[in-house]
Order: sequence, then structure tokens, then C-alpha cells
Amino acid sequence: MPLGDWIQTADWKAEKHAPVVDCPDEVVVDTPFTINVSVGKEIAHPNTTEHHVSWIDVFFKPDGVKFAHHVGRFEFKAHGESVKGANQGPAYTHPNVTFSMQVNGAGTLTALALCNIHGLWESSKTIQVSL
Ligand code: FE2
Repeated sequence: MPLGDWIQTADWKAEKHAPVVDCPDEVVVDTPFTINVSVGKEIAHPNTTEHHVSWIDVFFKPDGVKFAHHVGRFEFKAHGESVKGANQGPAYTHPNVTFSMQVNGAGTLTALALCNIHGLWESSKTIQVSL
């Protein structure tokens, strides 16, 4: 069974697991732009030792090209773990990250997120490019 068959998609406004890709609809060619990816923007996802988002990967597939490029991997490592027990720790990492990238043509940005219980979820956003 292809991996893609396990990846779930949904409207992020109605499904807390669907990642959100926030960036301009149109960017300037070869010029850095800011992109934010997150899980739980509309409906909060739990962030506990037992149930949390572990990572988000971001890919860019240029229009008219067969292959996608892996542009970022973001791991969220703290979820209340402690020697005192689950959810007693001092730190929680939230699945929300902002970074900068640039492209030389239009394409599709895809975020792939892993919930440690509910599996893989993806969302995409197309971007146009101006000169
Ligand atoms: Fe979950």
C-alpha cells in the first residue's frame, strides 16, 4: 500500500489535525518570503505527553516538474515529560513554526504533520510568482 494512502486530508477549519500553510498567495521570484506552518490554528490539538504533534515537514513542488523538494523539517520535542511523570514537566513545544524561503517559480507547498496517535495529515497551498 503506498504511503500516500495513509495520509489524511481535511479542511483545517474543521479538523484539528490538518496543518495550515500560511504565506502570501503570490511571492517575488528569488526573494525570501515568510511562511508559517501550524497544527491547531482553528481547533486546538492536544499537547500532552500522551498525545501531541511530533513533527511537520514542508515540501515544495514546482509547477511542471515531477519531483518535490523537501524544504524544512520541524520537530516538536517537549510535551510535558518529567521524572515526576507524564505532563508534570516544565516545557511544551507547540506545533507552530515560522521560517523563510524563496522560489524561482510557481508551485505547491505541502505540509505533512504527524500526530503520535492519529497519524499523518497534509495540507497544500499553491503560490504564484511575480518578477
Ligand atoms: Fe491527535
